[in-house]
Amino acid sequence: MAKIKYILSDLRYIFQSKEKKASLKHKKLTAKEKERVLNKVKEYLRVFKPYIIGVSFLDIGSGGFQTILQFIDGKRKVAVDPVIQYIPYNLNKNIEFKSSYAENLTFKSGSFDGVFITNALDHFGNPELALQETKRVLKKSGRVFIMVNVFEKSFGRDKLHPYTFTKGQVYDLLSKYFKPIKVLSCADTNTFYFIGKQK
Ligand SMILES: C[S@@+](CC[C@H](N)C(=O)[O-])C[C@H]1O[C@@H](n2cnc3c(N)ncnc32)[C@H](O)[C@@H]1O
Repeated sequence: MAKIKYILSDLRYIFQSKEKKASLKHKKLTAKEKERVLNKVKEYLRVFKPYIIGVSFLDIGSGGFQTILQFIDGKRKVAVDPVIQYIPYNLNKNIEFKSSYAENLTFKSGSFDGVFITNALDHFGNPELALQETKRVLKKSGRVFIMVNVFEKSFGRDKLHPYTFTKGQVYDLLSKYFKPIKVLSCADTNTFYFIGKQK
């Protein structure tokens, strides 16, 4: 059933990514816009930093220039995003970028000490399947670092955000797969942070 759901979401994404491809082709962010995005990512990192352990890290739904991995030390850093090949920026040479869906990762089980999903869970076609995959590729001693925008109630936001979560919904979903270590929400920015470990 989950696989069928994924195939459907994949088809939806293929159509959607045509638009994204087109927009990325034409969109060059100004230095100021890039700085604004990077400042947000640095803000996520401030929350995660005390809990980061290990040397191998994966960023799922990384985007290109803004991947959080550029601010983290590690021996192996991998960033995945299905539109990576269309991103018109110079990508960081210390990071291995791969085109991949969160729902169908190609890594062996137990590959990473830390998996990051920042501002991306509500973009995925099938967040539940993505979390199953995250759990699979995370080491037994590994940790997940998730940041997602939350809302008072679910609503149809737009094509790029097939899901809108409330704090309760996203907490229930994440704690189904991971044991929370630290949970934090910032009401003024609608941001919800979850740091978890394997159950
Ligand atoms: C708002 S961007 C977040 C980028 C970056 N993580 C950040 O914190 O700024 C959401 C990203 O999720 C990616 N995405 C959408 N669906 C995905 C999927 N099924 N699997 C992996 N990434 C996906 C998009 O291509 C996009 O780059």
